[in-house]
Amino acid sequence: MSESHNGHRTAHTTRIAAVGDLHCTVDAKGRLRELFTRASQEADVIALCGDLTDYGLPEEAHVLAGELVGARVPVVGVLGNHDHESGKQVEVAQILTEAGMKVLDGDAVQLAGIGFAGTKGFAGGFDLHSLGAWGEAATKAFVQAAIDEAMKLEAGLARLRTRSRVALLHYSPISGTVRGEPEQIYPFLGSSRLEDPIDRMAVSAVFHGHAHHGATEGRTKNGVPTYNVSLPLLLASGPRATPFRLVELAVDQDAADAAEHELTPVRARTRR
Ligand SMILES: [Fe+2]
Ligand SMILES: [Fe+2]
Repeated sequence: MSESHNGHRTAHTTRIAAVGDLHCTVDAKGRLRELFTRASQEADVIALCGDLTDYGLPEEAHVLAGELVGARVPVVGVLGNHDHESGKQVEVAQILTEAGMKVLDGDAVQLAGIGFAGTKGFAGGFDLHSLGAWGEAATKAFVQAAIDEAMKLEAGLARLRTRSRVALLHYSPISGTVRGEPEQIYPFLGSSRLEDPIDRMAVSAVFHGHAHHGATEGRTKNGVPTYNVSLPLLLASGPRATPFRLVELAVDQDAADAAEHELTPVRARTRR
């Protein structure tokens, strides 16, 4: 945590290193450890934005758990759609939790003075072009999945009392950070339904992944900075690219002094 002096006031800040879409495979041993070590040298917290494994296999999660040894600061994050591919997402989350990562799924945690709320999110499209819950039961179930994720994010955010509050997602809450992807697949890259709780609850910053070829930065309707930290996107800026996004946020002195503060998990009521 860093400190800067401005007249008689002392402002504390916390640096977050965020990255998503690691897509860790069973043969990735040794490939991610350096990323975590470097992120630990430059930040106070590491935030991971889903698709942490490639096929959602426990074997892949064990490899990633081994790589997390490189992290020297707290690690918090959410799962992505790839982590659900094999139907073993609970086991994947458990393995990562045992490796020391705080896996958020509609809950929240305070780390280094920052409040983090997170959930995977879901698809459905953006703004006027969002899919509506109308017609077939399958369509309604699809839309309900996005509504459920938005409610989970809101439940997590509602637990936070810190000066700076961060939303962690895999899917994007805005179209601005998926720009660059084929327009035909925008509806599968995120949902504006996730944007509503972010704007209503005065979030300080949003991190997400999933859109490997989107844009690195955008803003919600209320101006909340939103960062697409998909690793392939970050690496696309050139051979000297930093494999994580660094963002610095203000923290209160008492929060900065507090140890990790686990907030009571509160999950939104869902129909699933
Ligand atoms: Fe991905
Ligand atoms: Fe994804």
